[in-house]
Amino acid sequence: MLEELAAIKQEILEGIEKNATSRSNAFELRKQYLDSKVGKIGQLMKQMKTIAPEERAEFGKNVNELKNWALEKFTELDEKMKALELDLRYKSEKIDVTMPSKKVKTGNLHPITQMRNQLIDVFAGMGFEIYEGTEIENDYYNFTALNTPADHPARDMQDTFYLSPEFLLRTQTSAGQIHVMEAKKPPIKILSPGKVFRSDDDATHSPMFTQMEGLVVDEKITLCDLKGMLDVFVKKIYGENTTTRLRPSYFPFTEPSVEVDVSCFECGGKGCKLCKGTGWIEILGAGIVNRKVLENCDIDPDKYSGLAFGIGRYRY
Ligand code: DAH
Repeated sequence: MLEELAAIKQEILEGIEKNATSRSNAFELRKQYLDSKVGKIGQLMKQMKTIAPEERAEFGKNVNELKNWALEKFTELDEKMKALELDLRYKSEKIDVTMPSKKVKTGNLHPITQMRNQLIDVFAGMGFEIYEGTEIENDYYNFTALNTPADHPARDMQDTFYLSPEFLLRTQTSAGQIHVMEAKKPPIKILSPGKVFRSDDDATHSPMFTQMEGLVVDEKITLCDLKGMLDVFVKKIYGENTTTRLRPSYFPFTEPSVEVDVSCFECGGKGCKLCKGTGWIEILGAGIVNRKVLENCDIDPDKYSGLAFGIGRYRY
């Protein structure tokens, strides 16, 4: 009997040596000996009946000892396998923090943002600074200071979203001109991109659209400066062969005022669907800053003059 126990012990030791490769192997091995139903040590207990009564106590003691010994061995093995597997995982999942990351596809910029960036590039090249105003304005900046008092008929040109009798969503980036001229004295050269709002919505009108305002104030600024500057910008944006045309117009904040057309970039000026057969496309309103607007901002109109333009007009 004792030999049988010694043989099992030996078998276990050999088994452990062979199976010390993974936790699941170790578990299977443990089952072979310690499982209450099929385990070899469990089976030994069942032989108790066949043992002579005077030897039973001794036998039971030996089997128990073997069982405790095996339990200890298997627990030890399991701990070892756990550590081994963890170690393998650490090795296989090693992170190299110096490795360059995978490129993330981020999509494209919105066409309006692309256009805005291009325009900013061109005007920054001519020395313009960027001023971004606020979308909520008060009546004074959006209209009154721009020479458009409450009863002025030009207010009808723009359907306004009023937030209160005093506050509104700006209808034009021109409002930024006043903020800039209040804060800074000439020479001034700013470009002010931003969203504007008008209470209108149909196939050709959107309640929100984007404008880009330009303002230059200095001594002896004339319409020639405006035309020269616009020619450069138009050629850079629409191509070298593009030409400009100035048409007389009216805006309360400029005198004289013009509307600027470019030769149609679709048909080159022959006339097509895009330019409605005219060969020209209107892109902006502009003019020489009205003396009254300069005065409203405490700038001496006898000493200084200014030019202004607003790209992205609301077309009727
Ligand atoms: N604010 C005008 C509009 O929204 C556009 C404009 C016209 C801006 C003439 C100007 C300007 O600065 O001088 O229709």
